[in-house]
Amino acid sequence: MLNKGYPSDWLSELKQRNNIVSVIGKYIHLEKKGSKYWACCPFHNEKTPSFTVSEDDGFFYCFGCKESGDVISFVQKYESCDFTQAVEILAKQANMEIPEFHGERDAVEKKQKRERLLSLLNYTYKHYMKNLYLPQAKPAQDYVKQRGFTRHELEDFKMGYSLNWDELINALRRQGYTYSEMIDAGVAQVKNNHYYDVMAERLVFPIFNSFGECVGFSARVLEKTDYAKYKNTAETLLFQKGKVVFGINLVKALKQKEGLKSIIIVEGQIDVIAMHRAGFKNTVACMGTALTKENAKEIKKLSSNVVLCFDGDEAGTKATIRSIDILKDEGVDTLIVALPDKHDPDEIIKEKGVQYLENLINNAMPVIDYLLSLELKKFDLSKPNEKGKYVKNALSIIAKLESNSAEEAYLEKIKDIASIPIDILRRDLANLKNRKPKIVENIDTNVLTARENGNIRAIRFILSSLIFHKNFVNKFIDYTKLLPKYKNIIELAKKDTPISSYYDYFEVDNYPILKECLGMDFNQYKDNDKQYFDECLWLVASQELIKKQTKLTEEFKECQDKEERTNIVKELNALNKAIREKNLEEFYVRN
Ligand code: CTP
Ligand code: MN
Repeated sequence: MLNKGYPSDWLSELKQRNNIVSVIGKYIHLEKKGSKYWACCPFHNEKTPSFTVSEDDGFFYCFGCKESGDVISFVQKYESCDFTQAVEILAKQANMEIPEFHGERDAVEKKQKRERLLSLLNYTYKHYMKNLYLPQAKPAQDYVKQRGFTRHELEDFKMGYSLNWDELINALRRQGYTYSEMIDAGVAQVKNNHYYDVMAERLVFPIFNSFGECVGFSARVLEKTDYAKYKNTAETLLFQKGKVVFGINLVKALKQKEGLKSIIIVEGQIDVIAMHRAGFKNTVACMGTALTKENAKEIKKLSSNVVLCFDGDEAGTKATIRSIDILKDEGVDTLIVALPDKHDPDEIIKEKGVQYLENLINNAMPVIDYLLSLELKKFDLSKPNEKGKYVKNALSIIAKLESNSAEEAYLEKIKDIASIPIDILRRDLANLKNRKPKIVENIDTNVLTARENGNIRAIRFILSSLIFHKNFVNKFIDYTKLLPKYKNIIELAKKDTPISSYYDYFEVDNYPILKECLGMDFNQYKDNDKQYFDECLWLVASQELIKKQTKLTEEFKECQDKEERTNIVKELNALNKAIREKNLEEFYVRN
């Protein structure tokens, strides 16, 4: 039997040989308490552990964000990859050979397409690399020399050169790639029926994902131009600009080799190279100024300590402020380096030396200090009204602090800067805090009516009781008849299926009710679970009976035939009686 494209037996062996506790334990720190292992959840931001791993059931569940799954879906989520990639990672770890993939046609096609494009891009970057050493590449060689890249750096970052508009296209043709594959990979564009290399005559930086697969390129023009100096691969199946982090593969390898204290984020790939050269090999770039939520998540997987080191210009400052919020939402601790005089890291190192930058990085500022320093720059404190504005802005930054002692420390600082007595600052701060709008209680925006909501809750409890084989389940009921919509789940439950296998049979993530069932916490019903089960059963059953009643009443109205009308009335009477007496006979198992 096949399961999501792999033989079931093979998949179960894969899961057996990848014990969920040891696999997850490699990514995050697990602690055993009682029958479960606990950790802070890697999928949402929290300080006290609500993420659990149950070794016997082979699945994980977070009481905070309700994320759950088996060992494969953990890898999928943690590594942001798809099912087949997760399977490949685990197979490799367990030294298992991967059988041929026979998924649904779509999945097989997508996997094949992905592999084909990856191989095209892999060929392309290596081709560009070779180009860089050809005699025709003189302009690029001069440029590389002028920017001071060493041979090692060119190799480490796999830099290359596109000779002209069609040389790569022809080479790819000779390798057997089609024009449409080149378009899909983002290396070619078509104009008047002519296909040409998107990166023509540029110095090319391949962009690798965290698995070290080349997914696209960013390429720079060699001479001064009035058009954009960088060009990136257009959005493709493999390349989404908001998702890639330049250098992530190298930093991941660094972490595996010698651990990682923090990650430095800069704006551009050339800055990354300069930083690595200066010894900061923990540097990545967000490629331009916008750090996205996806970038932050990707980075947090490697370290939750970040140092932002963006260009010392207005754009860099704006990007820093935006990134602070994004990183905070992801629970990343951030420090900030404010580079001076419109410089980027590459220029600072060239002009002022490594030691200077190292000093700046060692003295990187906490977020609050950075925000305060920006306010200080805005105002001339020798003028009373500007001083007033500075203090007001500074206090509103301090008001966000969570600890009183930190608050006090910063008030001291402002006192010194603005020479205003601390008591007055304290009073202003207190006023400011009182004036803050109260946080409105989260209103339940659930669109379901109370009855629908209750119904879903009841269905959920019934299904999860079946899945977990609870002894209070009423054995006389034919649940597939009661809940035909959930036939597949019920049949699996009947077969004593282990919890983790539900993830093989269903796309649990896209099936909210099943997901909630698998994460059901029966403890909260401990004292009256049997009674609650019966109530749920009746709630669902009665609604089915009422539906039937409505339908029969309609039929009765339309019906002209006397004999049939009598029959309907009989049936209706029986139904009314069943509803009155809470009789479940209608749903009994029949043999
Ligand atoms: N970038 C881009 N498109 C542009 C300009 C920049 O995608 N038109 C991205 C590139 O990834 C670039 C980064 O933003 O590496 C930073 O841009 P910038 O600061 O302008 O470039 P530098 O790193 O200073 O590059 P160089 O020193 O070569 O001028
Ligand atoms: Mn630069």
